[in-house]
Amino acid sequence: MKRIFLATTVAFGGIFGLATLAQSMGNVGADCNLNIPRDAMSYADAHNVYLCMADKMGTGYNTGDKRWIPADFVRDYRTWTPASTLPADPGVHGERFLFTYVNSVGASEYMKFKDEGAKMPVGTVIAKESFSINSKGKAKAGPLFFMQKVAAGTSPKTNDWYYMAVAPSGKPMGVNVFKACNECHSTYEGSDYLGYPEEDVRRTGG
Ligand code: HEC
Repeated sequence: MKRIFLATTVAFGGIFGLATLAQSMGNVGADCNLNIPRDAMSYADAHNVYLCMADKMGTGYNTGDKRWIPADFVRDYRTWTPASTLPADPGVHGERFLFTYVNSVGASEYMKFKDEGAKMPVGTVIAKESFSINSKGKAKAGPLFFMQKVAAGTSPKTNDWYYMAVAPSGKPMGVNVFKACNECHSTYEGSDYLGYPEEDVRRTGG
């Protein structure tokens, strides 16, 4: 588990700086729950919830056998490039807050956030962590989602994307990806089936 902690530290050191972690967690208690009403919550509060839960989430996702999901994706995703600056709640993925990382193959292309003519390189893997905060301010880890771009023609129905999801317990989630993932993602045609983070939390530059 040491390894996960290290990966977390690297990612956070890069994005937010460890100082943030050491400073007051503002409206977030030691139990990672909000101590203000959810309606009054800012992005910064959501970010503090994320920082508070990140280690526990990482440990959970990495628990047990990953079966058909490449274990290195789950182990390494926090060392990839963060494509969002703060976790945001776009109202999809079950009203969850999301935080996105892209591996080195796809990072610079993804972070152009192209709406027309986007074409992600083969070998791109995108990870999306999720957590929810209920109306009482209680925070809860959600699934870790992946999209992997595979060789042209491998999966024409999904524009050559493989979809995967890991439960907070670490168990690979057996879902019908055509219905549960691709039906919605395929509506983002110009962006190569990508939905992208909310505009105000996009991290550009790559
Ligand atoms: C109702 C529509 C919808 C469904 C269903 C859905 N997604 Fe998404 N997904 C989105 C949107 C919109 C985004 C961008 C939101 C954001 O990042 O804030 C997104 C983002 C993602 C990303 C980051 C890459 C990107 O598109 O920018 C991954 C990875 C992902 N989803 C995987 C999955 C998987 C795996 C499933 C099925 C288990 C799934 N999604 C189901 C709409 C959906």
